[in-house]
Amino acid sequence: MQQLLQTFQDLYGTSARLYHAPGRVNLIGEHTDYNDGFVMPAAIGFFTWVAAAPRADRRLVIHSANFEEQVEFDLDVIATPARQHWTDYVYGVAVTLEHHGYRLRGANMLIRGEVPIGAGLSSSAAIEVATGYALLDTAGYTIDPIELATLCQRAESDYVGLRCGIMDQFISCCGRRGHAVLLDCRSLGYRLLPLPEEARLVICNTMVKHSLASGEYNQRRTECEAGVQHLRQFLPEVQALRDVSLAELKRYGRDLPEVIYRRCHHVISENERVLVSANALDQDDFITFGQLMNESHRSLRDDYEVSCAELDLLVQLASEIEGVYGARMTGGGFGGCTINLVKAENVRAFEQVVAQEYQRRTGYTPEIYVCSAADGAERV
Ligand code: GLA
Repeated sequence: MQQLLQTFQDLYGTSARLYHAPGRVNLIGEHTDYNDGFVMPAAIGFFTWVAAAPRADRRLVIHSANFEEQVEFDLDVIATPARQHWTDYVYGVAVTLEHHGYRLRGANMLIRGEVPIGAGLSSSAAIEVATGYALLDTAGYTIDPIELATLCQRAESDYVGLRCGIMDQFISCCGRRGHAVLLDCRSLGYRLLPLPEEARLVICNTMVKHSLASGEYNQRRTECEAGVQHLRQFLPEVQALRDVSLAELKRYGRDLPEVIYRRCHHVISENERVLVSANALDQDDFITFGQLMNESHRSLRDDYEVSCAELDLLVQLASEIEGVYGARMTGGGFGGCTINLVKAENVRAFEQVVAQEYQRRTGYTPEIYVCSAADGAERV
C-alpha cells in the first residue's frame, strides 16, 4: 500500500495515515440480523483502504482511486441529501458521527476499494467503516469498534436509505483472523468460532446483481414487521421474530397472509439453524454444518424469495461436486455470491468444475475466491 501513500503525497502534498476495513462473507444466518436474530459472518481478506490527513478547515476532500474522481464537502454546511453516489457512504458516515457528538476535523482522503462492488461481500460496510475509523482517528478520538459499527449501520440506514441490519458493519469492525463470529444481533454479544483447516470457505461470484435488490430488501423488512405485529396480538411480549418459535408461528400465524407466513418461517427457522450450526462447527461436524447451509439456501429461495437463477445454479452445481459439505447464497441476495464449505483436498477440482459449468450455462465467467478469515478494521 506504499503506492496509495505515494499517490496521496502526489495529490495533496503531505504524508497520510493509512486505515483499512474488510468485506465479509456470511456463513449462515441470512436476513436474521434486522430481526434481532443470529448471524455467523467472517471478515475476508478484501479491504477498503483509506489514506487520510487532517486539514486546517472543516472540509472533506475525498478522492477515489477506483473511480478517479474527487468530491468535496463542507462539514459546516447543512447536510446534502444522498445522491446514489459512492460518496454517500463517506459523507453519510461523517454526518452521522457529527450527529452523535463527534466533532470531526476536515480531512484529505484517498480511498481505494478492493472488495468487489455489488457482489454481496459488503463493499459498502467496508468503505463506511474504513472512513469512519479514519475520520475519528484524524479528529483524535479513540475508537470503540462496536460503537463505530452501530454508527456506520445508522449511516447506511438513515442516510443512504438501505434499512440494513448490523451484521456487515459489525464484522468489518470486529472480525478476527482465522475465525467466524457468532453474533447475537440483539445484545451484540458474540463468540469467536475458530475456522478449520481441513474444510475451506470458497466464495463463488455469480457476476450478476439484479437491480431490485434494495427495494426488495426494505420490503422484506416491512413484511417481517407485519408478521411481528400480527403475532403480538397473541404473544404481547414479542419484540421481534427472534422471540418467536416455529411452534408459535404454526399456532398463531394461521391467519397471516401466506407470503408473510413464509417470510416469518424463514427467519425463525434460520435463527435455529445458526445456533445448531455453531455447535456443529465447535465439534468439527462439517456434514451437519453443510446440511444446514443447504437448508438455509432452500429457505432463502422458497420462503424468503431473495435468491435468483444464477445463485441457484451455483448452489446446484456445488451440490454435485465431491467434497462439498454445503452451499448457499450469502448476503442480501438477488445476485452476488454463494459460500461453499469444501473439503480442502477437493477445492482445486471444485473451482474448475464450477467455473466451467457456470460459464457454459450462463455465459458469465464466475470469480472464485478461496478465503481465509481476516481481522476487522485497523490503522495499518
Ligand atoms: C445485507 C445487509 C445485512 C443483512 C444481509 C442479509 O448484507 O446489509 O444487514 O441483512 O443483507 O443477511
